[in-house]
Amino acid sequence: MQKASEAVAITLKEMIDYAQPGMSTKELDEFGAQVLSRFGAKSAPFLTYKFPGWTCISVDNEFCHGIPKKSRILKEGDLINVDVSAELGGFWADNGCSFVVGQDLNHHQKLVNASKEILRKAISNIKGGVKIADIGHLMETEAKKHGYKVIKNLGGHGIGRGLHEDPEELMNYKNRLDHRRFKKNSVVAIETFISTTSTYAVDTRDGWTMVGNKGGYMAQHEHTIVVTDGAPIVLTEMNGIFN
Ligand code: CO
Ligand code: CO
Repeated sequence: MQKASEAVAITLKEMIDYAQPGMSTKELDEFGAQVLSRFGAKSAPFLTYKFPGWTCISVDNEFCHGIPKKSRILKEGDLINVDVSAELGGFWADNGCSFVVGQDLNHHQKLVNASKEILRKAISNIKGGVKIADIGHLMETEAKKHGYKVIKNLGGHGIGRGLHEDPEELMNYKNRLDHRRFKKNSVVAIETFISTTSTYAVDTRDGWTMVGNKGGYMAQHEHTIVVTDGAPIVLTEMNGIFN
């Protein structure tokens, strides 16, 4: 798990540093593919879903699962989300980060910072025995405090021998019917889905890219962690999103 996590974390970090105005999302994805290959890691969305790219790159109104394209050129001030998940030696890891390309001309940084802070707070409250719905409650409460909403149909997930394992649907809100608890020694991918306007992500015509049901913007930050008796071990810490 550590090796797979290091591969996705370093790939994400290098892609964040590499992204620049004027670059296509395809160029950014091909760069990420090179870094993953350096580790001998294979794209999880491609292996699992035949996704047409190595990583998911979503820009501006696109929320997630964006397809890297030659025609999608990054502009100064764009909000971008890069999600990198991969398999290495039979183990899978997942991480993601929203950030602003170049100067923050469109004032997206506040949303990005709120999402990062919510992820940090959520992770620091997770340990064996904690109710999954309570972490969802914390995330939604924090989002509201910052003046934002959460997306109700996207969630974190267990991960290990596959990209999505039990427990699935680790939501960003309190599901009163969900009585599950985090288990010590399990590995989960915790993700934020913090939005300005929308509360649901909906499919688009390309069959992959999701956008908001009411438009606006969304920020996502994701770490793969090991649940313990105390503070979780953040396996993808090297992506640097908390730095
Ligand atoms: Co994930
Ligand atoms: Co992900």
